[in-house]
Amino acid sequence: DDTKAGVKGLVDAGILNIPKIFVRPAEDLAAEELNAGHKNVEVPIIDVSNIGDSIRRQEIVNEVKIASGEWGFFQVINHGIPLSVLDEMIEGIRLFNEQDLELKKELYSRDSAKKVKFHSNFDLYTSKTVDWRDTLQLTFLDSDPDPSQMPPVCRKSTMEFFKHMKKLGETLFELLSEALGLQANHLNSMGYNKGCSIVTHYYPPCPQPELTLGVRKHADAGILTMLLQNHIGGLQVLHNGQWFDIHPTRDCLVINIGDLLQVLSNDKFKSVKHRAISNHVGPRISVACFFSGHASLLDKPFGPIKKLISEANPPQYEEFLLKEYFAKFFSSSLDTKPPMDYYK
Ligand code: SIN
Ligand code: FE2
Repeated sequence: DDTKAGVKGLVDAGILNIPKIFVRPAEDLAAEELNAGHKNVEVPIIDVSNIGDSIRRQEIVNEVKIASGEWGFFQVINHGIPLSVLDEMIEGIRLFNEQDLELKKELYSRDSAKKVKFHSNFDLYTSKTVDWRDTLQLTFLDSDPDPSQMPPVCRKSTMEFFKHMKKLGETLFELLSEALGLQANHLNSMGYNKGCSIVTHYYPPCPQPELTLGVRKHADAGILTMLLQNHIGGLQVLHNGQWFDIHPTRDCLVINIGDLLQVLSNDKFKSVKHRAISNHVGPRISVACFFSGHASLLDKPFGPIKKLISEANPPQYEEFLLKEYFAKFFSSSLDTKPPMDYYK
């Protein structure tokens, strides 16, 4: 039952040394992977205002294309979502995690079929080492979120946030389609902008942040991720063998290509490894919207978009069923081979 209090429960109990299961091997904690290259570059920042202007739009599409191919990550600014919506989302997640423990325990679950659940490390029983964070996960694969299912403390803020994420998601899928040389509505019309999970992380302050990670190195398994984070920082992206910090900016959303979009794009876009380091201070809060495709796609063949395939660009993946892909993902851990690699 202690597990249900999550990592926050350990901090509230006043521990000074983190339990061994959180201690990661030294190589996972290193500041650098390789010593290649120089560091005077940063994760691209894309201003998406004026997207209706055809000349500006072409420039934005080009920036999206370069960022998606070279970094797998970009940050969007001037996205038009009111700051209050973003701030209230973060605040709702703080309130959820800091409310009476009994209320959180009611939602505690590791069942991948549950739409609303709270837990600490989805792979607690399949990983050797786990991460310094608690998670509230809201999954909406076949329909938009239903307010009655939301935890009351963050119901209003989450509904409002979701509405804006859905709209920005559609815009991004248009830009990504154009960046692949397809019609603007291609990815949206295939239903890839649907099937959303809102995964919120609460990273309590850590007494020994040099020994553990908030989230270990991984790439995202879905199609596209849109991430909001509070002011604490810790997110790092692997680029040319080096870790680059994504410094939190209040009005900025971090976008990254998931494994499934790498597959759809036939490797034109890259799904890139990232991690979150832990901190003495906190909580750090992040909210990720994972788009993984409408539920009706689960038993249809999935693979590189046919229009992107030619003699010069043969398919890099065989077709597979999303259903099987996600089953592989949920039965494995973040440390094992990503499901995409089975189809390469
Ligand atoms: C994640 O990549 O799973 C979380 C990233 C973050 O919290 O910044
Ligand atoms: Fe991630």
